[in-house]
Amino acid sequence: MHSVLTGKTATSVTLGSKELLAFVGTDYLGMAHHPKVLEAASQAFVDYGLSPSASRITSGSCTPHEHLEEALAEFMGLESAVLLPSGGQANLALMESLIDGLDVILLDADAHPTLVHAARLNGSRRLDYGAGDGSRLMALLDRFRHERILVVTDSVFPTSGRMAPIPDIVRDLPEDGLLLVDESHSLGVVDPQGRGAVKAFAIPTGQVVVSLSLAKALGAFGGALVGPASVIQTIKRRSETYATTTPIPPAMAAAALASLRLLEAEPSRVQRLHRNIQRLHEIGQLWGRRPSGSFLPVLNRSFADEKEGRRISAELLRRGIYVPFTQYPGTPLGGALRFSISSEHSEEQIARLEVALKEIAALG
Ligand SMILES: Cc1ncc(COP(=O)(O)O)c(C=O)c1O
Repeated sequence: MHSVLTGKTATSVTLGSKELLAFVGTDYLGMAHHPKVLEAASQAFVDYGLSPSASRITSGSCTPHEHLEEALAEFMGLESAVLLPSGGQANLALMESLIDGLDVILLDADAHPTLVHAARLNGSRRLDYGAGDGSRLMALLDRFRHERILVVTDSVFPTSGRMAPIPDIVRDLPEDGLLLVDESHSLGVVDPQGRGAVKAFAIPTGQVVVSLSLAKALGAFGGALVGPASVIQTIKRRSETYATTTPIPPAMAAAALASLRLLEAEPSRVQRLHRNIQRLHEIGQLWGRRPSGSFLPVLNRSFADEKEGRRISAELLRRGIYVPFTQYPGTPLGGALRFSISSEHSEEQIARLEVALKEIAALG
């Protein structure tokens, strides 16, 4: 059973009437609660109402949508962008637009379920390469070098924290190949200014399309595809998910744009997040993890014995700390505690978590 929240801030949740220190979710920069972001959303609600109640290709395109698309492309150093109703649907939209346009999809075995689902719906021949198995991927790229290949990967994997070998893939991608990188967990996180892995690696981007969820470090809602103008045009022409659905409310686009502007103006937020990520991974050493140097603001602790995970979650709750035990798709073994950190957690709050986990370990 999951708990139902009665309130939330960047670092706390309220359950019933009790406020708890929380290490949950993916609002990595606290933008979902930032006054400037909320103000931008409120103004757009006044200007545009709750929803355009029309698709982008009829009367649903509003200035905040257009401005956010331009800003995302510029921020990530790519040519063009298109918004989709969610990150999952962004992955779907790219695959839809490439139906009949691919010979083979090479998919990282750890790819996010929305990528796997989208690849399945595309219907092209699909080969998975093993997580972190660079040599198999390179062999496949070589084997299919005369084919129309789409390589599909997350940039930072949200379960393991592993980073995809993006520069290697781009280097060996055939001329007709395309790389889809899901940067949902790296926008606002990877790179000193949070511009994501593709920008951080400074690789040639003519064959790279980035997919994003706006519901993570930007604290808003929705999705986007960012990449070469020709690919974005094809998506607009061929994707039903783009053309025949209602876009995100203009207020959400305005909120995401305000987050992006804050990110540009205050890179110190990203630095605070990096410091907190390091602290979180230090805490992981309590259960024998080596510090990984990972950029992921999440620490997953899997349990073969579900009861043990639930016991630790309950002990944390007794100490006023909320980290639910979850069994989300892809969780190995019996389930996992998923500790998420944000730039807004203070050192004192992180130390509280550390002390509590040490006490609980001593009890167990
Ligand atoms: C890597 C990745 N891609 C896509 C998504 C889906 O994004 P959205 O929730 O905006 O549909 C998620 C969300 O969990 C994700 O972690």
